[in-house]
Amino acid sequence: MQSTIDIQAMRRAALDAMAGLPEPPGALSVEAIRIDAGSQPDPGTLAVAVRDRLLRDGGPGAALVTGLDATSDIPEARKFHKELFAAVWELVEPAAGDEVPGNGYKVKMNVIADGAIPLELYGNAWSFKKLHMDRDALIFSHLYGPTAGFDGGALLLADVRAYMGLHSAGFTDLFDWSQEPTPGSKPVLRAEHESAVLAECGANVGPLGPGEILFVNNLPSAGILHGATPVEVTDPEGYVREYHRCSVRRADR
Ligand SMILES: [Fe+2]
Repeated sequence: MQSTIDIQAMRRAALDAMAGLPEPPGALSVEAIRIDAGSQPDPGTLAVAVRDRLLRDGGPGAALVTGLDATSDIPEARKFHKELFAAVWELVEPAAGDEVPGNGYKVKMNVIADGAIPLELYGNAWSFKKLHMDRDALIFSHLYGPTAGFDGGALLLADVRAYMGLHSAGFTDLFDWSQEPTPGSKPVLRAEHESAVLAECGANVGPLGPGEILFVNNLPSAGILHGATPVEVTDPEGYVREYHRCSVRRADR
């Protein structure tokens, strides 16, 4: 419980500090984050390209690897995703520093079936849609697929660090804490700010499918929010929206 409170306090403090920070150097856009996996995807080479985009000392804070479906089916792509995440984390970890308490790291991997998420996990069968930061993850990545039978579900990203700097806004100006069935909350952008934040500092990555992996720098100081447009099921029989998620958080060993 202590670490839950600590990380929320750190997220709040980091967001409050953004009001006084200069605009980060890397502007967030779909073009700025996209990396083609190429005809012979290599986790080591791609990890460097992902790291360069994830870190905020020049990068936009997110990365989108595309084109993996040209060389891999879904099981192969999930295996590749796991390797790529491990390689990316190895490169990003030195930059994560002591920002979050804990003396070790915990890497988590799972497959989430949107619309069928066990209620005891998040209190909702659907993954979170409003722009937010995850509570514990330092970085995370999602490989989408299989996907069928729906409209919507476009992935949204926003550089709230840039927005807060431009508008001298603090946590209470823009955010609420999420209501969760389990202890702990995440910072959620209030609905009335969403259109301005997206228009000034956001990117619509579109609905992602097989062969596309989205990486997000979710460190408190990074100031990257993520969310999705509502999913509308158009074919209940054929509907599927799965994503393979990798994430890492600090933990006491
Ligand atoms: Fe999330």
